[in-house]
Amino acid sequence: MKRRRIMVAAGCCLSFFLGTLLNLLFIPGFEHHQNRGFHTDRRRDAAANHELRLQIRERLEEVLRYRSGAADVARPLERRRLMDLEPATRRDAHRRAAPAPALGCGSMDNVTDVQYLGSGYTKAVYRAALNASFAVALKSVDFGGHDMENCVQRFASAPDCYRLASFKIVKEMTLMERLQHPNVLKLYGYCYQDSNDIRDTVTAITELGSPLEMIQLLQTPWEERFRICLSLVRLLHFLAHSPLGSVTLLDFRPRQFVLVGGELKVTDLDDASIEETPCSTSSPGDCVMEFPARNFTLACSGGRCQGFNEKRNLYNAYRFFFTYLLPHSAPPTLRPLLDKIVNYTGELLWGIDETQVHLEKVLHLYRSGIYLQNNTEMHKSEYRRVADASIGGENYRCWPSYQHDGCMLSVFSLHEAIGVCESHAQCRAFIMTNQTTWSGHQLVLFKTGSGHLTSSKGHVTYIRTDS
Ligand SMILES: Nc1ncnc2c1ncn2[C@@H]1O[C@H](COP(=O)(O)OP(=O)(O)O)[C@@H](O)[C@H]1O
Ligand SMILES: [Mg+2]
Repeated sequence: MKRRRIMVAAGCCLSFFLGTLLNLLFIPGFEHHQNRGFHTDRRRDAAANHELRLQIRERLEEVLRYRSGAADVARPLERRRLMDLEPATRRDAHRRAAPAPALGCGSMDNVTDVQYLGSGYTKAVYRAALNASFAVALKSVDFGGHDMENCVQRFASAPDCYRLASFKIVKEMTLMERLQHPNVLKLYGYCYQDSNDIRDTVTAITELGSPLEMIQLLQTPWEERFRICLSLVRLLHFLAHSPLGSVTLLDFRPRQFVLVGGELKVTDLDDASIEETPCSTSSPGDCVMEFPARNFTLACSGGRCQGFNEKRNLYNAYRFFFTYLLPHSAPPTLRPLLDKIVNYTGELLWGIDETQVHLEKVLHLYRSGIYLQNNTEMHKSEYRRVADASIGGENYRCWPSYQHDGCMLSVFSLHEAIGVCESHAQCRAFIMTNQTTWSGHQLVLFKTGSGHLTSSKGHVTYIRTDS
């Protein structure tokens, strides 16, 4: 009888193993995990912790869920490329500019300029230059991080704890691949190698960003802060309608995002979830969404809380980003619309679709210069125009400037630049540079005088003649 039970159990294990084997082959970075991991499983000594195994199994199954689905039909080829360990010499310059997701251990042979960027609960992230030219971020499990430390304390097995933690990286890589969007960090590839006495540690090679510094952001021009909020809303719109369903970011703090060329991108995806909260109509408490300062009760329909994932993202965007970044020092004519966006998202009166429509409208008003149309103010001063000229020195500080030691602001038109100059007591001249911001606004450098006029192709200087 006992033997029969063992045979049945062994049969179940075998069928589960074979059933998942095929799926596993199509997960970025999973061949290695599977080849080594499952064999290690078999050899695992009898005292290995059952709970730890269960947790590993749960994470594995979660990743498998993200891999499955009809939208994945076109992917195997791409995955094969991802797994190629291409020799460094074969990568050419154009690939450096726009790399296909094909980097592997080969590309890490020649890593230089490694610098620590940051770490969170699980991962440590480093900046590195591949072949002395292409800068990337390398993400791996932080052996000294909280996740590993807490696990080892509890289960006393560094290799198993490593394996558990590394599933977060595998999940993150899987989601980066499945959720490709301009505001999701790009996965360039990955590498498995032995490290710290642990076999096959995984390193994800991703796009490089700069960690988000909220204090710094509060000091940047409104246009840049608006761009961050707009990127975030576009990201949340994509996540709400993603190929995997509505994705929520359970850990939404600003440190889970980075800036890449001024655009916000989500980097930490290991806490993303597609599970919509289950509920029953007879128990209204099921759909209470709790935040430190307030709660919302959502409707329950079809056994799921309606829009829970989308609304959690949106309220987090409101409390961590919009309230701080959107309204303050915005062009006055845009303030009512921006205040409305803040108020309506703070009350969850809009979903993400409507929120995006309103932010895109602000962008249109700003880009097209319509935000200045009510500004019929007549200018007091006359200006002398000097083409291909700039002014050395004679700087003064203003806020929020694009230059820390001078007053550089963005304007839509010459008319707006004159208005700014006349509103600053120190301003006696300004230079319309040939640089533009992401929105197409022109950067203008305001000056206290015009004593040091120099030749400078492409710049146009305006000097007040009323002094
Ligand atoms: N691509 C990147 N470029 C620059 N910094 C990054 C990048 N990815 C992450 N970081 C920094 O590293 C920190 C830890 O990364 P994260 O993925 O959030 O790890 P964890 O899951 O441990 O929280 C982030 O808070 C961020 O500051
Ligand atoms: Mg993080």
